[in-house]
Amino acid sequence: MTDGRALPGVDLTPDALAGPSLERLCELAARDQWRLEDLDWSSVDVSALPEPFRQTAADAFAQLQWGEQTALFAAMRLMELLPEGAARTFLATQRTDEARHVAFFERVVRLFGCEGRVRPSVLRLMQEVREAETPEALLLGMQVLIEGVAHSMFLEAVKLVEAMGDIEEFDSSIRALKTLVAESMPRLARDESRHIAFGLHSLRRLIPQLDGAARLRLEEKVALWGEWLLEQVRDPDLVVGIGMDGDALCGRLIEDLNLRIGQVGLATRLAPLRAEG
Ligand SMILES: [Fe+2]
Ligand SMILES: [Fe+2]
Repeated sequence: MTDGRALPGVDLTPDALAGPSLERLCELAARDQWRLEDLDWSSVDVSALPEPFRQTAADAFAQLQWGEQTALFAAMRLMELLPEGAARTFLATQRTDEARHVAFFERVVRLFGCEGRVRPSVLRLMQEVREAETPEALLLGMQVLIEGVAHSMFLEAVKLVEAMGDIEEFDSSIRALKTLVAESMPRLARDESRHIAFGLHSLRRLIPQLDGAARLRLEEKVALWGEWLLEQVRDPDLVVGIGMDGDALCGRLIEDLNLRIGQVGLATRLAPLRAEG
């Protein structure tokens, strides 16, 4: 019986990716499930905020929504490509997580009362990753690069609302939004950290089995997709528009992504920030 594709030299037999760390991830996924209904949506009403702010926020969240949609698609594709056993058991939990994330961001975008517009550059990146030719490229693009950025954005959002403090002049609807962000983002980040861990685990097993040409293609992908992804984070409209410090976020992201790229045994490193000209 064959699973996914037959690739010379790469072990994709059932349970090729099994191991205690993957079992642990499955346990954590079962333990940490949550539902949109666990959050209090009822008192969030942002209709009084100025329209340009609502539009900026809807646009920013629409990129994340599209990212989650792509993650859901990728989890389903990986279930077909990776061997039966522990990997598929984990991916089934990830599929559930990503479906919840899609629904979460759909609901958030709706709150702002404006249609979120997905940027062509985001569409292009997501399209490329979802059509990745090998499981390794799909794991690298989705579980390491895109999930890595999402994880950082979610943690950044928590810091942002914490820094807002309990300013008295906020009316109750804005406070409700703040509470929603403070309660949802750590849950989203925890989900994504499991997905990243799965990506790292799988790539550490698969990459050493690749021949030189296949490894080189993967290095080229990580450099290209990493650069496309960082372009989004560097774009002031997207990140700064919702109050994040784009330079600081980008700097930390490059460090995190480079660490993970190194952990899976690749040599490519994403370049530091370009000097503003
Ligand atoms: Fe997600
Ligand atoms: Fe994810």
